Amino acid sequence: MDLMTLELPFEIRFQSLAYIAAAILFILALAGLSKQTTAQRGNRLGMLGMALALLATVWVVIAGAGDNATLAAILILVALGIGAAVGIPVAQRVEMTGMPELIALLHSFVGLAAVFVGYNSFIETPGEDSIYNAFHMGEVGLAVFIGAVTFTGSIVAFLKLSGRLSGAPLMLPHRHWLNGGAIVASLALIVWFAHTRSLGAGMIPLILLTIIALALGVHLVAAIGGGDMPVVVSMLNSYSGWAAAMAGFTLGNDLLIITGALVGSSGAYLSYIMSKAMNRSFISVILGGFGSDGAVTGEGKDYGSHQETAADEVAQMLKDANKVVITPGYGMAVAQAQYPVAAMTQKLSEQGIDVSFAIHPVAGRLPGHMNVLLAEANVPYDIVFEMDEINDELADADVVLVIGANDTVNPAAEEPGSPIAGMPVIKVWEAKNVIVFKRSMGNAGYAGVQNPLFFNENTKMLLGDAKDSVDQINASL
Ligand code: TAP
Repeated sequence: MDLMTLELPFEIRFQSLAYIAAAILFILALAGLSKQTTAQRGNRLGMLGMALALLATVWVVIAGAGDNATLAAILILVALGIGAAVGIPVAQRVEMTGMPELIALLHSFVGLAAVFVGYNSFIETPGEDSIYNAFHMGEVGLAVFIGAVTFTGSIVAFLKLSGRLSGAPLMLPHRHWLNGGAIVASLALIVWFAHTRSLGAGMIPLILLTIIALALGVHLVAAIGGGDMPVVVSMLNSYSGWAAAMAGFTLGNDLLIITGALVGSSGAYLSYIMSKAMNRSFISVILGGFGSDGAVTGEGKDYGSHQETAADEVAQMLKDANKVVITPGYGMAVAQAQYPVAAMTQKLSEQGIDVSFAIHPVAGRLPGHMNVLLAEANVPYDIVFEMDEINDELADADVVLVIGANDTVNPAAEEPGSPIAGMPVIKVWEAKNVIVFKRSMGNAGYAGVQNPLFFNENTKMLLGDAKDSVDQINASL
């Protein structure tokens, strides 16, 4: 067939071109997001690609509906209206610190959509006796499986991250066998399903598959402990991408396949990088329960007493310093202290003091959380360093300010048996003086582990809300 002379309706040709342009824009968006300086451009390119993709899809659906075009347009508008009515207020209300749980919830929608697309596709075309149909049914089975695991896994992640469910890992006996058994049973059910030739016969394995996959999603994520949740959120992001790609195969939509594969592979790679940054085996994190069997939390250990300080004393210490390193963590986000921190940085720099930032890869609650906050407050990029870039320089620092960080600066990571054992941390304790900003001595960090840093001789605690404390320091500088 000569494709050049093939007459396709205009909207289909427009759709193909728009999909190619959108796919290129998505790739450029991902490339842009890899650097702080180009991240905003990356976001804009992604939004443009998505707008183009939506426009082309909606147009083709309406044009293809023939006499029912008006009805199709109304249904799409109603669906968009409902989505916008729910999504816009939620997005406006969400705090930066609540982003991971919102992301987890959004992943669950992608999973559920893949399940619905799979069921719909099967109900529309069951039972054709051809090899093509067997492949198609296999795709449907996989889409339903990945979608259902993503759906319940993401809901459990949402419940854990929002504190509605305990962050402690659920340790069922023989849990790896349970997971393995569920995966083998699901594969067998997909094969059975692909061989069925009627709606009635196919529904049985499909429903069984869905139930097992839903339970597997709950179990996989329930078994993962608090400290490993960032990797899980990014892994669920990856699953949601694969679920979307499977839905793309089922619907015959090329752009959904490309976009799903981009999300799936970049999410998987991000999870791998994060596991490496936390010195976790990727497979162990995904299988759950890693490092949580009989781990020591340091709760009962006596590390001695801590020393407290006051804002004016810290201000004086800073004025006397040559080199200051700031290590922000989740508490800076809670306190929204990034603006006074930026102002303090500027004041110190103007007085000729060398100030830099040390950023841990999982500081805060989402990848790049600290970088976003500092960029928001216009802290220059060239003084913001990743943990690996700055860890060796900490011994030269006169003062390290630990602003709302805890797990990411916890020397207990170097103690075998600790729940965070092996996780690389920022070695703030090597500096001459360490000031820790925190509200009280009562609360532990995210992983629930006591931090011996607070009791070191060269550490002083500045207790109180981080924003208030930095404001007071600024007033004395
Ligand atoms: P955390 O270990 O979560 O500790 C936060 C610290 O901030 C605590 O010491 C807390 O003490 C203090 N804090 C909270 N609110 C404050 C306020 N208003 N003013 C002053 N201090 C405040 O922080 P981290 O070092 O950034 O570590 C991140 C943890 O989150 C890791 O365990 C990581 O695995 C996990 N996690 C990370 C991500 C990603 S991708 N980054 C996602 C999910 C989970 P007080 O309560 O006493 O004030």
